[in-house]
Amino acid sequence: MTTSNTIIIFGASGDLTQRKLVPALFNLYRKERLPAGTRIVGTARRPYSNDEFRARMRAGAEKFAGGAFDTATWDAFAEQLWYVPGNAKTLEDYQNLDAALRELEDGSANRLYYLATAPGLFVPIIQQLGAAGMARPDGGQRRVVIEKPFGHDLQSARALNAAVHAVFEEQQIYRIDHYLGKDTAQNILFFRFANTIFEPVWNRRYIDNVQITVAETVPVGQRGDFYDKASVLRDMFQNHILQLLSLVAMEPPASFNADAVRNEKVKVLSAIRPIELPDTVRGQYRGYHDEPGVAPASQTATYAALKLYIDNWRWKGVPFYLRSGKALGHKTSEIAIQFQCPPHMMFPLPEESDFTSNILAMCIQPDEGMHLKFETKVPDSMVETRSVDMEFHYRSSFKGKPLPDAYERLLLDALNGDASLFTRSDGIERAWELIDPILAGWETAAAPPLATYEPGTWGPDVADAFIARDGRAWRLGCAHDGEH
Ligand code: BG6
Repeated sequence: MTTSNTIIIFGASGDLTQRKLVPALFNLYRKERLPAGTRIVGTARRPYSNDEFRARMRAGAEKFAGGAFDTATWDAFAEQLWYVPGNAKTLEDYQNLDAALRELEDGSANRLYYLATAPGLFVPIIQQLGAAGMARPDGGQRRVVIEKPFGHDLQSARALNAAVHAVFEEQQIYRIDHYLGKDTAQNILFFRFANTIFEPVWNRRYIDNVQITVAETVPVGQRGDFYDKASVLRDMFQNHILQLLSLVAMEPPASFNADAVRNEKVKVLSAIRPIELPDTVRGQYRGYHDEPGVAPASQTATYAALKLYIDNWRWKGVPFYLRSGKALGHKTSEIAIQFQCPPHMMFPLPEESDFTSNILAMCIQPDEGMHLKFETKVPDSMVETRSVDMEFHYRSSFKGKPLPDAYERLLLDALNGDASLFTRSDGIERAWELIDPILAGWETAAAPPLATYEPGTWGPDVADAFIARDGRAWRLGCAHDGEH
C-alpha cells in the first residue's frame, strides 16, 4: 500500500502561497505529477473557511499558473484543498491542526510542512511542531521545507540550524533556494557533466575569468521594510548567486544524489578565499530613500559587485566577478565564462579590432539558452576577424515544452524526499561565512563608498572601473544590445 501525502502550508494567507506554491501544485496536478490523493492544507491566523481559501487560491492559479488554467481541472484539484486557521505560536492550535489532519488523512500519511511565513516564525513553528509530536514519523514521513532567508547572518543561521535540528533530522529538512529549481540552473550540471568537450577546458589553464550577473529591473517596491535590513548581499548573494557559482565551479560528483552533489558544492564554498573589502563595490539607486519602509538616510546597498578567488587546484588565480542589483536597465541572470586569449596570435589585428577571446554565456533567464562566442574571418577581408555566436535557445529547441516554474520541481522533489536541489546546513553556514565579513566591513570606515546609480542603467560607474582595474570588462552574451 502506498502512503498518501499531505502538504501543510504555514503562512497560507500570504503572497508566496497564492503566487507561487498553489499555482505550482496546480500545474503538477494538471500534468499528473502530483501523487494521487495529495491533500493541501493551508494554515494561518486569518479565519478563512475552506471555500474562501479555495476562492483565493483559484484567483492565484488563474493569474500565475502560466496561462494553463481551466475550470474543470481546478474544480477537481480544489477538492483536496483545505484550510485550518491557527496561530503559529499557540500549541493548542497545533493540536487542533493535527486532529484536523488525522481526520483528513484517515490513516498514516507522509507530511510535508512548508514554512512560507515571515522568517521570525520559523523557530516558533518548528518548536510547536515538535511539542505537538507532529515532527515524529508516524507510519508516514515528516519533512519540513524552510523558505529563505535562512538566517540574517552566520550567528542567526547557526541558531536556526540548531533549533531545527532539535526537532528534525537533517534528512527531513529542505532549505529552499528557488534558483536551484530553475531548469537552466540545473542544466549547468548537465552541460558540464553530460558532455565531454567542455570539462577539459573548464579550469585555470583555459579560463581567464568567470562573471555572474543577476540584474533586475524591479525596484524594491513594497518590500522596503524587509529589504532595507537585508540589502542585496543577503537577498541575492548569500543564496542565489553563491549557489550558481557552486554549480559552475564544483568538481564532478560521482552520482546525481543529494549527498554527493551537496558535498561538492560545500567543498567549493569552503575553498573560497575570504573576500577583501577593496574587492567589493556597493551602490544604491537614486530614489531608493523614497520607497515605503526605507529609512530616510539608509546606507543599504541595492547593488553590489564582488571579486573572489577559489583556492583549489582547478581555479587558483581565476577571478570570479559577481554582480547584482535592483532597478537596473535589464533583467538578466547569466554566467559568462571568458576563456583566455590564444597563446600566440598569428593574425595581425588592426588597432581598432573588436577581438575578444571566446566567451561561453549560460543564460539562466529570461532568454534561456547557451551562447558560444568565437572569432571568424570576415569574408573578403585579408585578416579582419569578427565575433560570432553559436546559439542554443530553449524556446526554439524545445518548442511546445515551456520551462516550468522553479517551485514545481522543488515541491515535487521535497514530496519525493530528494534533497539534491536544497541547501544543507553546512552549505548555508559556509555561504554566511563569506558574506558576514563584507556586511561587517561595510559598516566600518574601510568600506568602499556607497555609489549612487541612476535607475535604468547598469549600476554605478565604479563597478566598471572596478573590473577595468584588472584589465577586464563586464561581458554579457545573452542577446543584449552591446556589452556592459
Ligand atoms: C528573491 C529575492 O529571492 O529572488 C527577490 O528576495 C528577487 O528580491 C528574486 O527579486 C529574484 O528571483 P527571480 O526568479 O525573479 O530571478
